[in-house]
Amino acid sequence: MASLACLFILCCLLALTSFQSSSSPASPSPENYSIGDLTHELLDSALSPGFFHWLKSTRRSIHHHPELAFQELHTSQLIRRELDVLGVQYSWPVARTGVVASIGSGLKPFFALRAEMDALPLQELVDWEHKSKHNGKMHACGHDAHVSMLLGAAKLLQEREHELKGTVKLVFQPAEEGLAGAYHVLQEGVLDEVSAMFTLHVDTVLPTGVIASRPGPLLAASSRFMVRIQGNGTRDPILAVSFVIQALQLLVSRETNPLEGRVVSVTFVKSVRDSVDLGGTLRSMTSEGLIYLSKRIKEIIELQSAVLGCTAEIDFMEKERIPYPATANDDEIYMLGKMVGESMFGEDNVHLSSMCMAADDFGFYSQKMATAYFSIGIKNETLGSSHPLHSPHFFLDEQALPIGAAFQAAVAIMHLNHHVSFLQS
Ligand SMILES: *[C@@H]1O[C@H](CO)[C@@H](O)[C@H](O)[C@H]1NC(C)=O
Ligand SMILES: *[C@@H]1O[C@H](CO)[C@@H](O)[C@H](O)[C@H]1NC(C)=O
Ligand SMILES: *[C@@H]1O[C@H](CO)[C@@H](O)[C@H](O)[C@H]1NC(C)=O
Ligand SMILES: [Zn+2]
Ligand SMILES: [Zn+2]
Repeated sequence: MASLACLFILCCLLALTSFQSSSSPASPSPENYSIGDLTHELLDSALSPGFFHWLKSTRRSIHHHPELAFQELHTSQLIRRELDVLGVQYSWPVARTGVVASIGSGLKPFFALRAEMDALPLQELVDWEHKSKHNGKMHACGHDAHVSMLLGAAKLLQEREHELKGTVKLVFQPAEEGLAGAYHVLQEGVLDEVSAMFTLHVDTVLPTGVIASRPGPLLAASSRFMVRIQGNGTRDPILAVSFVIQALQLLVSRETNPLEGRVVSVTFVKSVRDSVDLGGTLRSMTSEGLIYLSKRIKEIIELQSAVLGCTAEIDFMEKERIPYPATANDDEIYMLGKMVGESMFGEDNVHLSSMCMAADDFGFYSQKMATAYFSIGIKNETLGSSHPLHSPHFFLDEQALPIGAAFQAAVAIMHLNHHVSFLQS
């Protein structure tokens, strides 16, 4: 009986709020806030000329001053300055140069959004006004745009702070490119209470205005290896290396289920007096697959070298280059992103991605909590923004900035709303 009475009161309240909100459509009460209202309001805010201008100038300033992994001091300072202006609280330094901001009630549930801050050791070959000022460094993976979009999301969320049914953590993360910044952020414990996490990565195949992802496995686990093959008198290490390289290729073509993506590639060979060094990368769509590959790579290299009377030393460099786990999307967070995206951009602009052998240190978060990783299109042929990521010709369509800002803010708000209604039901 008690529960029935509660239900009755709840119905009355719902009826009342819906009546009130329909009489004042400009500010619907949070209880009756349709997803369409929310996504359109957020996108309109982010597309307004002042907001868009701020997103662009932030991104351009970061593009102008690219910084490599764990050296993102200027970028980190810019982020903190913008957060100060917005009145958003943050922890700093996190993993040396990182910043973790916090918006909302300060209570559970905690939902996180992630943007990487680091650039690549590349010489920018695009001539434009905001070209990299630092020789040999370039934002060619769009991390400058990711920072700008996350600051945009911070602004949108901060404007709705009192409506948030929990807390959003905004993770400005160092060192995604090779140095496992995500691992180091997790080590610091600032995300211990976070139960779910979301990220966006720019994509040069998808047109601007389109987003994409998939449920389940998305990106590969990856690691590296270095080998020194030592000859001895007439025992020729160069011959041994040629056997090793061929045998490593058989590992993928003969031992791997073709439906399960794996890659082993030798990326360099260098002769040093009576020995030869070689190195390469290994990738697998599962973290278990990567462990299997490592074991077989070690066996094959040692045995092939021994056949030719040489000795081999293998180093997987796990200390300096912590292997990246695979990134897999949680079904629920993926569905939430898809639903929010369809509401914001229309169903035709939400695509299903294929699995991809690229790796991202987002996999470290993916191992610990429910995560989703979405691609956001930046391709516009007129602008020339269709060169691949990590190309010195990489160029970005800045029209994607407000799209990414609004999308992330909406996902965070909707996640907290769903989570709370789930807890209460
Ligand atoms: C919210 O308001 C709309 C009309 O604006 C109404 O159709 C809908 O039933 C309301 N939803 C709830 C949960 O009260
Ligand atoms: C080289 O070969 C000789 C003879 O087989 C062996 O005694 C020696 O230990 C080998 N040295 C190395 C470094 O493998
Ligand atoms: C591509 O960029 C150009 C120049 O900014 C713009 O006029 C055009 O509308 C864009 N195309 C699309 C499909 O967004
Ligand atoms: Zn990259
Ligand atoms: Zn990247």
